[in-house]
Amino acid sequence: MASTSPVILILGSGPNVGHHVAQAFVAKGYKIALASRSVKEEDKNADLVRISADLSDPHCVKGIFSKVEASLGLPSVVVYNASAGAPNNPEEPLSIPLADFSRDLHVNTTSAFVAAQHAALSFERLPDHRSKTFIYTGNILNETTIASLLDGGVGKSATAHIIRSAAAAYSNKGFKFYYADERKADGTPVYSKISGEAHGKFYVELAEHKSQGPWQQTFVEDVGYKHFPTA
Ligand SMILES: NC(=O)c1ccc[n+]([C@@H]2O[C@H](COP(=O)([O-])OP(=O)(O)OC[C@H]3O[C@@H](n4cnc5c(N)ncnc54)[C@H](OP(=O)(O)O)[C@@H]3O)[C@@H](O)[C@H]2O)c1
Repeated sequence: MASTSPVILILGSGPNVGHHVAQAFVAKGYKIALASRSVKEEDKNADLVRISADLSDPHCVKGIFSKVEASLGLPSVVVYNASAGAPNNPEEPLSIPLADFSRDLHVNTTSAFVAAQHAALSFERLPDHRSKTFIYTGNILNETTIASLLDGGVGKSATAHIIRSAAAAYSNKGFKFYYADERKADGTPVYSKISGEAHGKFYVELAEHKSQGPWQQTFVEDVGYKHFPTA
C-alpha cells in the first residue's frame, strides 16, 4: 500500500538502539518497520510493521524489503543495527570455529551489504525530497583491534569499507551512507554504556542532513559528531 509518510526500516531492532531510533523517527512522522529474530509479526498496525528475520541468512534481506514496501511503502531511511560475535580467547583468536566466524560475518557484513544494495534500489525510486539515508551502527573496531573480539572486528571493518565506498559513489545521487560509532568524550569506546537515546537523536540528524557528510560518524552523547584521531 502506498504511503505519504516517510518510512524507516531498522534491521536488528531491540530494546536499546532499535527502540530509541524508532521513537525518534516516530516523532518526525515516520512509519516504522522493525526486523529481528524475536519480533511477533502479528503485533503491527498501519504505521508499524514487525518482520521476523534472522540476518545470519543474507537471503532473507530481499524479502524484508519486499514486505516493507508492500505494507508501508519504500523506506527512505535504513538502519542496520544487528551485530554478532561472542568474545574469543584473546590469546588464540584463530581458534574461532569456521561456522561461527562465517555466521557472524553474515550478520555483521554480508546482510548489511545486501541491505545497502536494496536501500539504494529503494532510494532510486523515491522522490527527490525524501532523505535517502543508510546508517550502519558500528563501533571502534574498524580502526583498532581488541584481542577478544576478532570476528566482530572483521565484520565492522569490512562493512566500514562498504559504507565508505558507497558514500563516495552515490553522493552525486543524493544517497547518504554512514558508519555511526558512539564514543566517550575522550574518544574511547562506550562499550556497554551505549546510549539508545543518543543514537535516536543523532540518526535523525544524519537523516535530516541534505548531503553526504563524513562517512565515518563518530559521535558523543549530548555533543553530536566529533572527529577523533584514528585509534
Ligand atoms: N559504539 C560502541 O562502542 C558500541 C557499543 C556497544 C554496541 N554497539 C553496537 O550497537 C549495536 C547494538 O546496539 P543495542 O544492543 O543497543 O541495540 P538493540 O536495538 O537493543 O538490539 C539489537 C538487536 O539486534 C537483533 N539481532 C541480533 N542478531 C540478529 C540477527 N542474526 N538477525 C536479526 N536480528 C538480530 C537482536 O534482536 P533479536 O534477538 O530479536 O534478533 C537485538 O535485540 C550493534 O551494532 C553493536 O555493534 C556499539
